[in-house]
Amino acid sequence: MSSSKLTTVLVAGAGGNTGVFVNVILLTRPGSEGKSRVQFLKEKGAKIRFGDVSKDSVPELEKVLEGVNVVLSLVSVAVLNDQKKLFQAAKNAGVDRVIPSDFATASLSGGVLKETKLAIHSFIKELGIGYTFINVGWWMELILPYPPSQPESHVTTLPRFFVGSGDVKSAVTRREDIGKFVARIIADPRTLNAYVFCHGDEVTVNEAYATAKEVGKEDFNSVKMPLSIDQLKEQNPIMRDYYQEMYVLGQNTVENAKQLGAIDARELYPDIKPKTLKEYATEFYKEFPDIRYDF
Ligand SMILES: NC(=O)c1ccc[n+]([C@@H]2O[C@H](COP(=O)([O-])OP(=O)(O)OC[C@H]3O[C@@H](n4cnc5c(N)ncnc54)[C@H](OP(=O)(O)O)[C@@H]3O)[C@@H](O)[C@H]2O)c1
Repeated sequence: MSSSKLTTVLVAGAGGNTGVFVNVILLTRPGSEGKSRVQFLKEKGAKIRFGDVSKDSVPELEKVLEGVNVVLSLVSVAVLNDQKKLFQAAKNAGVDRVIPSDFATASLSGGVLKETKLAIHSFIKELGIGYTFINVGWWMELILPYPPSQPESHVTTLPRFFVGSGDVKSAVTRREDIGKFVARIIADPRTLNAYVFCHGDEVTVNEAYATAKEVGKEDFNSVKMPLSIDQLKEQNPIMRDYYQEMYVLGQNTVENAKQLGAIDARELYPDIKPKTLKEYATEFYKEFPDIRYDF
């Protein structure tokens, strides 16, 4: 490919838990330059541009987007609504395609967070800019239980919540494989103005705990927190919505995503061989993933 045909992709939220696996030009907030992940991506050759989707105006963001063909947003859930400014700026700057910060479960409705993400879909369609919507199921990193010896945190607590029978299939993908799929999807004309669903495996929570026992060589039942949906709502309202969708309604499946119009990324890229949960578990119990949240 000649350099004049190179696609220039700007990744907003590159220093986050998802963005660390996707790199091209990074949009990072001025205060984030010192982050070890941003430094890591810089050392790998990524160029850095500074911007803040909350603080910057549309014209300021427009300048940041000069020469960019694709905007991939992986910003945190706290600033989802501020993506409107980023995508308005993208439209003004002549960007060909935008990908909003979705990267979640298969369904296209339900729950506060999902509704916020769907409002962004509507905004993008009204703008009349090219788009791709990508969902990836649940992270594998958040379904395998951590041993009791691991310090309690948002991340180690999530796989302990046990809702429903535990026998409902749910699609899961590890973050590194999300990066592999995304790198292909964003440059693929077949995915323009389409919804794409990626997955590495489909498992139930009971299967995840059985895998944990087999690979992690520990009985994780002691960390399990069986909760009703209402009790989960008290603990974490956002997770209540996701767990209801995944483990009660059984909507986080490849079949459901396809019924909602998604293209299956595995069919588009059969050469990408994402890890199954069992394969990933070996990696997971050797070294726990690096996932950082400030809350
Ligand atoms: N499927 C799943 O299981 C799953 C799990 C977790 C998250 N997700 C989804 O994945 C997406 C990304 O989540 P994440 O957990 O990776 O995000 P995160 O780590 O919380 O944050 C990502 C990045 O957002 C950037 N950011 C925050 N405020 C910004 C602002 N005002 N302007 C510009 N950038 C800003 C920051 O980048 P800099 O520091 O570089 O500025 C931050 O590192 C979300 O849509 C989330 O719902 C899915």
